[in-house]
Amino acid sequence: MPDTTIETLPKGPYKVSGVFEVKDKDGETITTEKKTVFLCRCGASKDKPFCDGTHKSVEFDTAVEAA
Ligand code: FES
Repeated sequence: MPDTTIETLPKGPYKVSGVFEVKDKDGETITTEKKTVFLCRCGASKDKPFCDGTHKSVEFDTAVEAA
């Protein structure tokens, strides 16, 4: 069983669960107490790197699904 799981959600973010660290563009750790986070992959979130639900209003579509 892996310590960390990354799941691609259809027309949505990456769901990251388990033991992980999130770092910003400068390599600084973004503190979170959560064991699950949702990372934006549509590029429209105003709370990057986290998903804020904007993918729904921009009708983000995942042309390539994880296989
Ligand atoms: S994937 Fe949700 S706001 Fe980008």
